[in-house]
Amino acid sequence: MPSPDRTSPLLTFPEQEQSPLSIRAKALVFADAESVHLLHEVERVAPSEAPVLIHGETGTGKELVARHVHLISGRKGPFVAVNCGAISETLAEAELFGHEAGAYTGSVGSKTGWFEAANGGTLFLDEIGDLPLALQVKLLRVLQEREVVRVGARKPTPINVRLVAATNVDLAQAVQAGHFRQDLYYRLNVVSINIPPLRQRQADIPPLAEHFIAIYSQKLGFNAPSLSPNSIAALLAYSWPGNIRELENIIHYALLVSSGREIRPEHLKLNTAAPQFAAAASTAEQPPLQVIKQQLQRLFAAEHPELHDELENLLVTTAFEQTRFNQVRTAELLGLTRNVVRTLLKRHDLLTDPVSI
Ligand SMILES: Nc1ncnc2c1ncn2[C@@H]1O[C@H](COP(=O)(O)OP(=O)(O)OP(=O)(O)O)[C@@H](O)[C@H]1O
Ligand SMILES: [Mg+2]
Repeated sequence: MPSPDRTSPLLTFPEQEQSPLSIRAKALVFADAESVHLLHEVERVAPSEAPVLIHGETGTGKELVARHVHLISGRKGPFVAVNCGAISETLAEAELFGHEAGAYTGSVGSKTGWFEAANGGTLFLDEIGDLPLALQVKLLRVLQEREVVRVGARKPTPINVRLVAATNVDLAQAVQAGHFRQDLYYRLNVVSINIPPLRQRQADIPPLAEHFIAIYSQKLGFNAPSLSPNSIAALLAYSWPGNIRELENIIHYALLVSSGREIRPEHLKLNTAAPQFAAAASTAEQPPLQVIKQQLQRLFAAEHPELHDELENLLVTTAFEQTRFNQVRTAELLGLTRNVVRTLLKRHDLLTDPVSI
């Protein structure tokens, strides 16, 4: 078999030992209940032959999960990653299926296509939503017939490839909009894995931060520093539009500016315009206690020495105002006895002159 074209920017033939991603992939962090559930799902489906469609926002770990599917699938062949967004339509057929010598003017040798290169292994089609419609038809045919015909060849070559595709757009919507073929969507979407954004698996944030601190401290040649409690709070309060990749970059930068000493909030280059925007958009859909929790995390990040007292004051004052200064109804609202409410009202100076409140 001719060796695949290693200069192609679209193809990666990762030697497991040389790929930084796979080195890190040995230490996958799945701490949050959501992620543990996801990992079990991945492990359950990996050994089957079924195509897998991975959906997740940018930087959530789609490629990492795809590699993990391959790693534990038991498939002996290689993992071949293809970025569908970078395919030039003119050369695509040869890229996908390969070509024989002399198939094109100037094509001297023959060339292995992606499917053949991944034979016995896994073909990872990244950004599948960007695959041009003309190629979607051809891909569908390969999936149905399980064989490819090289450009310029007469005979088909049988292939045994596990397909894993990833997308950060909603493919069902792309189908609705006419950008993606419905029949291909059904073919690909046999097993679907949805990777939640980092803000929805907050328990992963501290261990992932530690994980990247360990990796980058080692690279930079100093002892891993700790994160101050208020910088952990700042990380938890942030909305992570760029997900795990953004966390990785922020930790890397923090290590550089803290020069190996304790990481403090001023070392974290968080894009603070983003979380407010995200929070404003989603607050109405979230359970109120979740919203309060997020706001508490922001308060923790900002160091409030009197925080407990201020929050208690806010709670009692708001309830007392809402009941038009009625102690019995305030007690009902808060689920407390009237005696406890009276103690609280006294503590916060709300009993002295109710009219002025
Ligand atoms: N669970 C995890 N544990 C440890 N590292 C992770 C985990 N998930 C992702 N990463 C790391 O985060 C980075 C981004 O992951 P990956 O490239 O797989 O994301 P992606 O969803 O493919 O991103 P994009 O949409 O931008 O292509 C990588 O460096 C990866 O190693
Ligand atoms: Mg990716």
